[in-house]
Amino acid sequence: MVAHKQKNGSVEKISFYKKHINTKIEFFLEKYPDKPTRLLDAIKYSSLLGGKRIRALLVYGTGELLSIDKKILDPVAVSIELIHSFSLIHDDLPSMDNDDLRRGKPTLHRAFDEGTAILTGDILQTIAFDIVINSEQHIYSTAEKIKLLKELSFSIGLEGMTGGQYLDINVENIIIDEDYLKNIYAKKTGALVRASIMMPSYLTNIEKNTIKKLEIFSSHIGLAYQIKDDLLEIEQTTEIIGKSSNSDNINHKITFPSLIGVAESKRRLIEHSEIAIDAISDFGDNALFLKHLVKIITKRDK
Ligand code: IPE
Ligand code: IPE
Ligand code: MG
Ligand code: MG
Repeated sequence: MVAHKQKNGSVEKISFYKKHINTKIEFFLEKYPDKPTRLLDAIKYSSLLGGKRIRALLVYGTGELLSIDKKILDPVAVSIELIHSFSLIHDDLPSMDNDDLRRGKPTLHRAFDEGTAILTGDILQTIAFDIVINSEQHIYSTAEKIKLLKELSFSIGLEGMTGGQYLDINVENIIIDEDYLKNIYAKKTGALVRASIMMPSYLTNIEKNTIKKLEIFSSHIGLAYQIKDDLLEIEQTTEIIGKSSNSDNINHKITFPSLIGVAESKRRLIEHSEIAIDAISDFGDNALFLKHLVKIITKRDK
C-alpha cells in the first residue's frame, strides 16, 4: 500500500516537473530578442516542442535527494535541457546521423534549413551558459557559478558530449569492443546526464563521500540511458519513438545490441540500473523519486 502510494506520488511528480520545466524554458527564453523572428522560431521549435525532459527530471530528483530548494534548480534544469536540444539538432544533421524526424516532427534542418539548424544549436549553447551566469535574482554565488559552469562546459566538451559524438561518427578502422563503446556512450550521452546530477550537488554542502556516490549513480544511469536508446530503436516503431527506428542500421552504427546482442544488452541495462540504484541506497525516502526515474529510464517505451 505504501509502495503503491509512493509510486503514484512519483507519477504525479513527473507530470508536475515536466509542466514546470516547459514553463521555465519558455520563461527563460522570453528575455531574448525576438529578431530575427525565424531564428527565434527555430530556437522554440527545437527546445519547446516535445522531449521527455529526463535530464531536467534528474536535476529535480537530485534536488529531492539532497533537499535542495526547487527554485534554485530551475536555471540548471533549463540550461541542461537547452544543451540537450542543441546536441539533438546537430546529431540529426546530414553530416551526422542524417535524420528527418525528431520528437515526432521534422528535424530542425528539414523544417527550416541546415544553416539555421547549425546556428540554432550554437545559440542554444550560449543561452544555456547565459542562463546560469545571469540567473534571475542572482541566486548563485560566484563560487557556485564557477562550479556549475565548469561541470556544464566539461559535459559539452572534448571529454563530454562533443568529444563522444566525434568518436561516434569516426569509427572506421577502429576495432570496437565493449569498453570502447562504453567510452563513447559515457561521453556522448553520459556526460550530460552526469551534469544533471552533479550540477545540483554543487548547490549544497556535500561531503566527498556523497559526491562519490552520485558519480557512481550518474555514470551507470548514463550508460543505461544510451543502451535503452539503442534497444528502443530496434524494438519500437518510428511512430512511437518519434524518430527513425532505422537510423543506426542505415548508418551502420555499432551499438550495444549490434555488438553484444539484444539479450546481453538487456542484461547490461539491468546491471547498470541496479548499480545506480544501489549507489543511492543510503538516502532513504529522499531517494524515492530518483529511484523511480531509474525505473522509468530502464522500462520506458519511447
Ligand atoms: C535522445 O535523448 C538522445 C540520447 C542522448 C539518448 P532523449 O531520449 O532524452 O530525447 P528527448 O529529449 O526525450 O527527445
Ligand atoms: C545520442 O546519440 C547522443 C547525442 C545526441 C549527443 P544517438 O544518435 O544515438 O541518439 P538518437 O537515437 O538520434 O536520439
Ligand atoms: Mg548520433
Ligand atoms: Mg542520432
